[in-house]
Amino acid sequence: MLDSERRKLQFENQSIIVASSEKMLELEDESIDVIVTSPPYNVGKQYSTTDGSKGYDDQLSQKDYLFFLETVFKECNRVLHSSGVFFLNIGDSAPDQGKSEKVVEIAVNSGFKRLQTIIWAKSLFGKGHFTPSGGERRLNNLWENIFVLVKSKNYKISPKKIGMPYTDKSNIGRYSEEDLRDAGDIWFIPYEVTTGSTIKKGHEAPFPIGLPYKAIQLVPHAKKVLDPFAGTGSTLAAAHQLGLQGIGYEAFPREKVIEERILNNTFTPQNLPLLPQLENYSEITTMMLNHLMENTSQEEIEAIWNGLKKREKKQFLWSINDLGLEPSFLEKIPIEKELFNKKKKD
Ligand SMILES: C[S@@+](CC[C@H](N)C(=O)[O-])C[C@H]1O[C@@H](n2cnc3c(N)ncnc32)[C@H](O)[C@@H]1O
Repeated sequence: MLDSERRKLQFENQSIIVASSEKMLELEDESIDVIVTSPPYNVGKQYSTTDGSKGYDDQLSQKDYLFFLETVFKECNRVLHSSGVFFLNIGDSAPDQGKSEKVVEIAVNSGFKRLQTIIWAKSLFGKGHFTPSGGERRLNNLWENIFVLVKSKNYKISPKKIGMPYTDKSNIGRYSEEDLRDAGDIWFIPYEVTTGSTIKKGHEAPFPIGLPYKAIQLVPHAKKVLDPFAGTGSTLAAAHQLGLQGIGYEAFPREKVIEERILNNTFTPQNLPLLPQLENYSEITTMMLNHLMENTSQEEIEAIWNGLKKREKKQFLWSINDLGLEPSFLEKIPIEKELFNKKKKD
């Protein structure tokens, strides 16, 4: 593409530069705080274009593919501020195991340091969409990498911004004064919609808006966000929702899809517990809730309650507190006063 053919699409505070991110001429050195992106996976996907042309060649030789990514990653390194963070999402396709490692190595060769790898879990315990890919030859793949890369030791992140309440409230005061802990490096982010045809409408490989949303939140000083492979505009949609300025590069933009995703998406931030059944709903909690919902008699509920250990009772009350249920829901349980008084510490 000639430099004279570059153009800019503007959606409120979000811009898409229609050009290859191999040259991000519009961006000054060190001008970006967070980069969130998912590059083409080079798996032979047919990325659609508005004018019906072939679009991006997603079947390069491995050498050409990695060389292309190196050019873009070097540009990312140039434009990212020394305190900035680069979230690079890529999964391994079933027949091409180990590709993601090669891609992150290229990022390292381009000047980045590896901070850690976040696992993006798309489906847990049957909740969340994924494309069945295993058949009889391997297990279905439910996760992808989010490589976290930085330029220097000056980077800043704030894990509790995307934290979660303690399951065991006796940790309050022990590890932290507030009921908030770092939720860790496995992110459970299901797609916004669950049918393949709806996800794929207009684009072949979007990530859920929750992914860039969480990544951007982790960087407290973020003002300017970049996605060098903007696709449907998911990263810019997240930046928009967070009131930040977003810039995307997309060589083959579908303008209507991007506009819809940035300005009219129905995304609402959720803090899904990682393992809903195990973390927040212990067996005791589930059993008690079932009895309360099934109208088990007062006497029977009292008997069950009185048979529980003190610790189990406390666990139940903590879970109930996190669920935000009405106190009247618990009327049938003869909750001992001391359990409430000592709720915060053992
Ligand atoms: C995996 S998709 C990104 C999807 C995006 N994360 C989303 O949620 O929609 C990769 C995108 O990179 C675009 N692309 C390919 N080569 C490019 C280049 N040289 N410069 C900019 N964009 C490019 C493709 O058209 C495709 O939309």
